[in-house]
Amino acid sequence: MSAVSIDLTQAVNRISQRVIDNSAFIQAIRSGLLSKESLKSYLSDIKWILGESIPHIKSAREAANRRGDLRLANFMEEKIAEEIGHDLWAENDLKRLNSTGKEPSPAAVRLMKFARNAALERPEFFVGYMIWSEAFTVVAGEQMSPYLPGNSLKTDDISAVYNHVETDKRHVQEDIGIAEFYFSEKEKREELISFIEDASKLTQAFLDSHVVTDRK
Ligand SMILES: [Fe+2]
Ligand SMILES: [Fe+2]
Repeated sequence: MSAVSIDLTQAVNRISQRVIDNSAFIQAIRSGLLSKESLKSYLSDIKWILGESIPHIKSAREAANRRGDLRLANFMEEKIAEEIGHDLWAENDLKRLNSTGKEPSPAAVRLMKFARNAALERPEFFVGYMIWSEAFTVVAGEQMSPYLPGNSLKTDDISAVYNHVETDKRHVQEDIGIAEFYFSEKEKREELISFIEDASKLTQAFLDSHVVTDRK
């Protein structure tokens, strides 16, 4: 591994761990207190978010093409093939819960607006968004799996997450591989890490928006 990829991997792992340690949604899973309503609301947003990913990757591909950056455009083209149909995982999870889903929550809309802006305006930073979302899914998914039985859940019940824990280990390596080219300068890499910090805050707000607290 190059120094650049080690630097990015360490940053994304550190930021992931901070979200895991501070998120009320993750705390609810750890305590065995995740309600069915929270799970349905979360999966409904995840279905919408996964459905947004192909349009965003296409936007990033077009932005790269406009700049004449074939390397990045080709990378995005490969990503389309890898990500297509993943929203169906969430749809199947919802079906098993007898839920059809709902309109996306304001926190999910804010997170996707952030991703879309990067895809449209700074496609190399959209690679950073992919590193974040895929690495966080792997790290959080793996840490949470021992707590699922305490919530009467199996990994198969949340296939939208746990299928990604499998696919995204490889995807993160691919993302970091191309990021090495765009973020080899320390200053630009620091800008990317700060962008990932912003993505992590929106992600935590999104997760925590699904915690339904029962106030009597
Ligand atoms: Fe995916
Ligand atoms: Fe992926």
